[in-house]
Amino acid sequence: MSKSVAIVTGASQGIGRATAVRLARDFSALVLVARNRANLEDTAKAVGAAAEVLVIDADLAEPRAAQSVVDQTLAAFGRIDALLNIAGAVPQVDLFETTEAQWEAGLALKLHGARRLTIAAWPSLMAAKGAVVLMSGNSASFPKAPYAAVGTINAAIVALAKAFSDKGISDGVQVNSVLPGPVMTGRRRSYLQHWAPLHNMTVEEATAKFPKEAGIARYGEPEEIAELMAFLVSPGARWMTGSALRMDGGEAKSI
Ligand SMILES: NC(=O)c1ccc[n+]([C@@H]2O[C@H](COP(=O)([O-])OP(=O)(O)OC[C@H]3O[C@@H](n4cnc5c(N)ncnc54)[C@H](OP(=O)(O)O)[C@@H]3O)[C@@H](O)[C@H]2O)c1
Repeated sequence: MSKSVAIVTGASQGIGRATAVRLARDFSALVLVARNRANLEDTAKAVGAAAEVLVIDADLAEPRAAQSVVDQTLAAFGRIDALLNIAGAVPQVDLFETTEAQWEAGLALKLHGARRLTIAAWPSLMAAKGAVVLMSGNSASFPKAPYAAVGTINAAIVALAKAFSDKGISDGVQVNSVLPGPVMTGRRRSYLQHWAPLHNMTVEEATAKFPKEAGIARYGEPEEIAELMAFLVSPGARWMTGSALRMDGGEAKSI
């Protein structure tokens, strides 16, 4: 296999970590990006000998981080075949209580971090005829007042991916977005731990309540979303671009 290189952001935990481990089967080198270096090293251990790994601890909300990630990737591996923008940490706060700082932090990482990194990697992606995935979420389709920033920013991500895909048609880069339903990750566990006592529930009761309300049988697993991410950057998805793909256990009830 000739060298193929994938950058995975948010690779220190959750869906990003599961995606990195899955991609090690298809790519010869992985670049793992997030802030927590110790957790990234753990992901690198889970990848093991399956792929070469470069760990980059960076705060992707910082405007200069994107170019630095691309420069380090090219210095180590010389090319970029796939970019999976998974990092995201939008505060789940009521619409009328979300502060300016919380809106800005959510946008700075999830929207602008992904946008900047995609632009910085674009010349290399063009050269490799590569693929990009941007992580959105089902809340893009059902924005709710109790976590309005999440739905709003996820909807913006779908639009951003579509705009990149438009440019990608002539540049030979495919770009898609992914909309998971509720997936059980550290982020969701901490939300449930915070939410349950505020609503006089045990964490177990709160955990059971959300899938029931969403009309689904269970939460998704990070490894399930990782399979979709891997497909979107595989040769099998080469003619798929500009799509927004759901994986949600049936949460979306409309066609
Ligand atoms: N879990 C779900 O139900 C669900 C559903 C729909 C969409 N999503 C989306 O899927 C993505 C991953 O979610 P998850 O549940 O796996 O979350 P998670 O476990 O909290 O992981 C978030 C990742 O983002 C990284 N990150 C946070 N702030 C960062 C920053 N400033 N710079 C660089 N990296 C940063 C985190 O690493 P560090 O803390 O080490 O920086 C971590 O690796 C998010 O975009 C989320 O919105 C999740």
